[in-house]
Amino acid sequence: LGATRNLRRALSSLRSPTELDVQHFASIVGDGNVLTSPTDLEPYNTDWMRKYVGNSKLALRPGSTAEVSRVLAHCHAERIGVVPQGGNTGLVGGSVPVADEVVLSLGRMDRVLSVDEDSGHLVCEAGCVLEALQAHVAARGHTMPLDLGAKGSCQIGGNIATNAGGLRFLRYGSLHGSVLGLEAVLADGTVLDGLTALRKNNTGYDVKQLFIGSEGTLGVVTACALALPRAPSSVHLALLGADSYAALLRTFGVARRRLAEVLSAAEFLDRASLELACEKLDGVRDPLPGRPCAQYMLVEVSGSDAGHDEAKLSAFVDEAMESGDVVDGTIAQDGAQSAALWRLREGITEALGRTGRVYKYDVSLPLAQLYDLVEETRARMAPHGALVSGFGHLGDGNLHLNVCTPGAFDADAAVAAAIEPWVFEYIAERRGSISAEHGVGVMKPHVLHLSKRPPVIGVMHALKRLLDPHGILNPGKVLPPPPEDERPWRSAS
Ligand code: FAD
Ligand code: MLT
Ligand code: ZN
Repeated sequence: LGATRNLRRALSSLRSPTELDVQHFASIVGDGNVLTSPTDLEPYNTDWMRKYVGNSKLALRPGSTAEVSRVLAHCHAERIGVVPQGGNTGLVGGSVPVADEVVLSLGRMDRVLSVDEDSGHLVCEAGCVLEALQAHVAARGHTMPLDLGAKGSCQIGGNIATNAGGLRFLRYGSLHGSVLGLEAVLADGTVLDGLTALRKNNTGYDVKQLFIGSEGTLGVVTACALALPRAPSSVHLALLGADSYAALLRTFGVARRRLAEVLSAAEFLDRASLELACEKLDGVRDPLPGRPCAQYMLVEVSGSDAGHDEAKLSAFVDEAMESGDVVDGTIAQDGAQSAALWRLREGITEALGRTGRVYKYDVSLPLAQLYDLVEETRARMAPHGALVSGFGHLGDGNLHLNVCTPGAFDADAAVAAAIEPWVFEYIAERRGSISAEHGVGVMKPHVLHLSKRPPVIGVMHALKRLLDPHGILNPGKVLPPPPEDERPWRSAS
């Protein structure tokens, strides 16, 4: 109910595009980049999970920042809603319209503008696909500071707009650190050219940070400058099995202590996740078939000295096995074996999607309590015949809790009611985050208050009013309805 009220309010001052608007947009982006047929629009209206479906009659594919600026200036003047869209791999419904907003798809803006191999940075347009960027910089001895399972489709602009985390967060940190400069277009068409690649630049407020993680609600990211780490010359990967989450956690402690500077990823998956991936994905097999385990951890080391890194990994695995916490394990012997282990981990999302309707929760909690939520959810969902899978970025305290109804792909109100709002309240009681890395989108504005205090939400509203006064950018996303009092923190007692 709260979500519906939010959408109605967000859309109330906006109008639908008319034929005249379409002609105007065509004069900006060219006829071939204006999509109006229902068949062409279907993928722009439907999210990756096929859970959120919009009703846009118009998608635009601008080819330059100037075109984005002119499109937005018109939408601002005419009060037309706009949904910026990258690769459309988002998992919270942020990238598709809630009604008939115009979809602004950045995919044509996919040029790499420069790579500086000395200082290690990349300047590129927002529509570059992450995997293509990785190939481009790898050929020059560098690596992208982020990696995620959606790399084949997601775009760097979408990654920045969601502040994507992923598999290398543990090593390279957040995009709030890796983005050196940004070009963004405000709702009224103003271009903010902050495309500097300077490492140090303390000249007052760091405005670009506002756009990182703002999910297209404050501006459209059109280009970026990113810090590039050198590609490690040696990478080694192990998969370890344990009989309990407590044993897995102790093993992670040993990994942090023994692997220290070469530790580059620490991911985990439970038995349910492993079984799903093996059952639903072609070519994925249980890497430890002799000994089913309750929990698995992928530990990757990367560095510049293969002998040293490999010796550290072996010594860590030996210690973990001798302690009895790790009961089985394997170290990948070549690139193909590593790729197979990563395919198992990265494919869980796809495997879940093939199994049934997925209720997806992306949670930060204190590490010691992370898996309790999976166990409590499993007990709670047993009467509904739902399958519960837990996996995620162990090294970042980020759990992906997934509830899935095998064979049933439609939403089930009873299942949803058994999970929400319980799950969000559970997280709030433990001072966790209701969204560790996927964002808020259209899925979670009504529970934002469980992770952010009212004065902070008040400042978010003030920023929205400042940068997008008519609320044309991604209406109904991220923000809950504005409070009656425009400055709630002033009146707070
Ligand atoms: P979209 O889905 O198109 O858009 C996402 C949001 O950003 C929307 O609100 C949209 O309006 C906005 N947006 C997009 N482009 C722009 C732009 N240029 N300017 C302004 N706003 C924009 N996420 C993680 O954090 N970590 C993971 O490990 C991870 N793994 C995933 C694995 C799979 C298999 C899948 C399907 C998704 C995964 N995701 C993950 C979620 C998703 O891929 C990321 O959120 C990704 O960053 C979205 O990029 P995109 O280009 O697809 O953006
Ligand atoms: C992942 O880490 O695999 C992603 O965030 C996708 C997901 O949570 O399903
Ligand atoms: Zn993730």
